[in-house]
Amino acid sequence: MRKQIVAGNWKMNLDAKQSQELIEALKAQSLDSNVSVAIATPSVHLAAAVAQTQDSSIDVVAQNMHQATSGAYTGEVSATMLKSIGVNTVLLGHSERRAYFHETDAQLAEKVNTALDAGLNVIFCFGEELEERKSGSHFDVVSSQLSKALFHLKANQWDHIVLAYEPVWAIGTGETASPEQAQEIHAHIRAVLTAQYDAALAESISVLYGGSVKPSNAADIFSKPDVDGGLIGGASLNAEDFAAIVNAF
Ligand code: 13P
Repeated sequence: MRKQIVAGNWKMNLDAKQSQELIEALKAQSLDSNVSVAIATPSVHLAAAVAQTQDSSIDVVAQNMHQATSGAYTGEVSATMLKSIGVNTVLLGHSERRAYFHETDAQLAEKVNTALDAGLNVIFCFGEELEERKSGSHFDVVSSQLSKALFHLKANQWDHIVLAYEPVWAIGTGETASPEQAQEIHAHIRAVLTAQYDAALAESISVLYGGSVKPSNAADIFSKPDVDGGLIGGASLNAEDFAAIVNAF
């Protein structure tokens, strides 16, 4: 059985007090214990969030890290720093990092290596832009993103990888991929993994969907056989909405 996962990506939202309040509100919700629940907070809140979630099953995830292990990279955060404060997982490759901070597939391959070497798990984000969807190249785009950033990995390293397909046109737009569109591309992702590795590996990897997931559409999307959960932006900033999505399986 693949792990079912719902992860909130807070992006650059909430000050320290708001972060603390949202975590308290989340801890007060009853959350389906079959679902792994995670929140990706801004890095400045990570240590406090780790401490605050000690007595809960909520995992705290970083939104980014640098590919170098240490050094003269002013303003950056390393994988070992994350590990040292009790963070075990990092999001890599989010479309906002690719678009606004010019992260490339090659750089992401380095980040993935550094994260795994430090003992972090990776939630790897990828997905096509609107023009690519319209021109029908989305299958190729997704294959290429996976192959350039991840296909150098050995099969056993995939134990530490979760995939998050996030079509750029559905992020923060209110427009969601239909459950059928999500299923179609998630099945494609599994086929690509089967071709590169094998069916057993492909079947073992959790593939999350992200892009305008809300309490009203989560159950339909999560009902698809190749969708193993969601990466939630806006709706993760509200404890009731996020809990409703966790409980939508
Ligand atoms: P929204 O849920 O706000 O569309 O954001 C999705 C996302 O980017 C999660 O990483």
